Amino acid sequence: MLELKDICYQVDGKEILKNVNLKIDDNMFVVLTGPNGGGKSTLAKIIAGIETPTSGQIVLDGVDITNWSVTERANGGISFAFQQPVRFKGITVKDLIALASGENLSTAAACGYLAEVGLCAKDYIDREVNDSLSGGELKRIEIATVMARKTKLTLFDEPEAGIDLWSFKNLIDVFEKLHEEIKGSIFIISHQERILNIADQVVVISGGKVTQVGTKDQVLPMLFGVETGCKFFKEA
Ligand SMILES: Nc1ncnc2c1ncn2[C@@H]1O[C@H](COP(=O)(O)OP(=O)(O)OP(=O)(O)O)[C@@H](O)[C@H]1O
Ligand SMILES: [Mg+2]
Repeated sequence: MLELKDICYQVDGKEILKNVNLKIDDNMFVVLTGPNGGGKSTLAKIIAGIETPTSGQIVLDGVDITNWSVTERANGGISFAFQQPVRFKGITVKDLIALASGENLSTAAACGYLAEVGLCAKDYIDREVNDSLSGGELKRIEIATVMARKTKLTLFDEPEAGIDLWSFKNLIDVFEKLHEEIKGSIFIISHQERILNIADQVVVISGGKVTQVGTKDQVLPMLFGVETGCKFFKEA
């Protein structure tokens, strides 16, 4: 279980996260949503160790990991797929997936992960993870690398961004399968109703505060206006 205790984060005197308290139980599918600029990506980066909270504690399975580095957290079972994926010049897709898996992965197994995210493996496996890949291709490759890691907590920051809607259903299947296979927790930042609909728990962050936490049946009716179908968020 991951626990965030009273997490505050300030930059240049600006409060970006204000006393965030949250528990992510084992084997949960949690979706974090809320308005642009609300603090979602910042919170994910704090969990992954990319940013350090100004105050508060992060506890993973009873161990205080607040001061752990990104690498220590990655080794401790946390994976993170960025809102804007990073490119790795000089590294091939095959090598990146193998590196992520932490084992001597066969080409066939690496191709299997690419196929799962809807990429024709033979066209991508030997390509470099550089600027020549489109945004959507890069996003899919990043999802494949995170899947290969099979950690107990996987964070995805807006995985749907840049992914065409025609193959979006497949992507949802990928998350459900990953959740089923690794028996770990999945924490997805998303604005997509289709992703919110498969959540065990929905968390809303607005103005740097957690404003709602509950099952999708408890939270979604408050997010989506029933009559108009239009989406709104309560101000923090
Ligand atoms: N290093 C920084 N310096 C100044 N402001 C920052 C910094 N990092 C984040 N912020 C601000 O903190 C707020 C929260 O940013 P964050 O990226 O977490 O939002 P978000 O909820 O992920 O939004 P979106 O839905 O647009 O991705 C924003 O107003 C952002 O401009
Ligand atoms: Mg964001």
